[in-house]
Amino acid sequence: MRATAVVLASVIGAALASPSPAQIVLNPLQLSTPLSSCPANGPISCHNSSRIPDLCCFESPGGLLLQTQFWDTHPSTGPEDSWTIHGLWPDNCDTTFNENCDPSRAYTDIASLLTDNGATDTLNFMETYWVDMHGENEQFWEHEWSKHGTCMSTLNPQCLPSGSPDGFEAVLFFQTVVSLFQSLPTYTWLANEGITPSHDRTYTLSELLSALKRASGGIEPALDCKSGALNAVSWYFNVKGSIADGTFVPINAPKHGDCHSSSRIKYLPKTRH
Ligand SMILES: *[C@@H]1O[C@H](CO)[C@@H](O)[C@H](O)[C@H]1NC(C)=O
Repeated sequence: MRATAVVLASVIGAALASPSPAQIVLNPLQLSTPLSSCPANGPISCHNSSRIPDLCCFESPGGLLLQTQFWDTHPSTGPEDSWTIHGLWPDNCDTTFNENCDPSRAYTDIASLLTDNGATDTLNFMETYWVDMHGENEQFWEHEWSKHGTCMSTLNPQCLPSGSPDGFEAVLFFQTVVSLFQSLPTYTWLANEGITPSHDRTYTLSELLSALKRASGGIEPALDCKSGALNAVSWYFNVKGSIADGTFVPINAPKHGDCHSSSRIKYLPKTRH
């Protein structure tokens, strides 16, 4: 417990002290008017010592957020020089998940929901970077929203300003995920450490993790593999305030992904489309 608190404090301290490109504490949405009136000194998710009544300002129970990304090469998805978005998952602070929390808000036609609410830029970005392996982007977005987004307490419709359009909390979800992803350039961070896709080279798990930790400014993610090759990364956060306009505080992954620590790992190139 003490060790966790120290790590967290040093992460926050480092991020505040050095506004470097690697800084990944963020306020994802540049909103002209604040959405929520959450207190600036409220608790960080997963770190309350007493009951917090206002779940619009305290993400619970899913206060451990994973921004998950894919590196798909078979078939290849997305640009050759970028990982792609999988989603943003609320974990119950203990590596268990709640899922599909509100079937009544399992929205369809996410693309129209975004354009109807002025989030065309977000949609355009998603069409390149949040893509399904089989081209079923719309279904993929619907799935990520209904399975994970509907479990976020701070995105409950009652947390939004009165008069918000139906489904607006899902618009905020997609904008937040896109902004978080943009602050987590896994490809560039690896490339900055000399690690680029290759058919020949291989790496140990600890080489990959320490490269990402250095390049990100001190945060260690979790890495998943498929057939001995890098396939996914999870960047972990706690959040202060609302998912929609709170502050995401990066933390080290609380557990390893499934890449083996004892075998060499490939980072394969994507094939051209
Ligand atoms: C933290 O807050 C949540 C939400 O109100 C509550 O369910 C949980 O029991 C609290 N944790 C502690 C240790 O009091």
